[in-house]
Amino acid sequence: MIPVNEPLLGKEEFNKVVDCLKTNWISSQGKYLTEFEEKFAHYCGGRYGISTTSGTTALHLALASLGIGPGDEVLIPTFTMAATAFAVCYCGATPVFIDSEPETFNIDLDRALSYLRTQEKRGKLKVKAILPVHMYGHPVDMDPLLDIADRFSITVIEDAAEAHGAEYKGKKCGSFGAFGCFSFYANKIITTGEGGMVLTNDPRLADKARRLKDLAHSTEKRFLHTALGFNYRMTNLQAALGVAQLKKINHHIQKKRRMAKEYEKVLKDIPGLRLPIEKPWARNVYWMYGVLVEKALGLSRDQLMIQLKNQGIDTRSFFVPMHLQTVFRDKAVKAKWFGRYPVAERISEQGLYLPSGLTITRDQIGYISNQIKRLAA
Ligand SMILES: Cc1ncc(COP(=O)(O)O)c(C=O)c1O
Repeated sequence: MIPVNEPLLGKEEFNKVVDCLKTNWISSQGKYLTEFEEKFAHYCGGRYGISTTSGTTALHLALASLGIGPGDEVLIPTFTMAATAFAVCYCGATPVFIDSEPETFNIDLDRALSYLRTQEKRGKLKVKAILPVHMYGHPVDMDPLLDIADRFSITVIEDAAEAHGAEYKGKKCGSFGAFGCFSFYANKIITTGEGGMVLTNDPRLADKARRLKDLAHSTEKRFLHTALGFNYRMTNLQAALGVAQLKKINHHIQKKRRMAKEYEKVLKDIPGLRLPIEKPWARNVYWMYGVLVEKALGLSRDQLMIQLKNQGIDTRSFFVPMHLQTVFRDKAVKAKWFGRYPVAERISEQGLYLPSGLTITRDQIGYISNQIKRLAA
């Protein structure tokens, strides 16, 4: 079976992890942690990097460091991975679900603006932050988003979990907001197994995030705690993997971009198959090669997935939007709906990712593309 995703690990990763074991630096102190945080922040054009245990905890840490809490609202795209919404809920704040735009699958900024205007008219602006997600590696259109944030005095926190190295007008995703949040789960462009990081340029926010992620020990006296902190500490073992992976990040991105070109070559003329795009202002890193199956293809998304599985090709369906999730519909936690979500629902029903791992070969891409061509005929 050709897997939908697979990390690319080599000798360097092995040697660095073994170095941690040999020297006993296996916990949350050690040279690789500092190196990984500094180098990743530098790579993304940020000043401070604070490592965490996952992308989910990176999002929570960012929101908590900004003091987002009960009574506050945070605008998020409904079409995202659950961690984006859950992180808002962990703070006791309310995620407000916004529909997506059809080309990049990113948050629909007209809808976000419309929500803010509605609240403004009523004289009660509860929104404290907007949390754009650079979906599947394609950047959000950041200039209009930053204008909206400025106009309504709300904070921007970027979910760049899927967008390591992606660029908006030449600037890296994750470097625009008060915080940029990353995941280093095994299917990401670079991995630490599990892991995450927040980036910020603000020394006060960096200091707060650093303290909160380590149980908020008082600076004066250990085991005195000045706030409700968390244990979100990455280990030196994970950071060792990260340092080795970071050296290869440009190579990984090149591989992803080459993969997209190879898929496009064969798939571009198939009626009813919509391929990922790259806006003129964007550098898409194609974390996942996601396609939409429209009526004209002659078989449904689910039928295509089954047929491909029969040919030894693994695929995944797109995320289920947050406004359709039982956890929110049952009101187990508070969330807010805004109108209807025709775009998010359509892409969630029609979308699937083709194998997009870093180990995929040209021959495999050729085989997958030709199988799709054959099934569509
Ligand atoms: C958009 C998005 N945000 C957040 C996360 C959470 O990251 P993690 O799995 O490292 O907690 C993911 C993970 O895949 C993601 O895709």
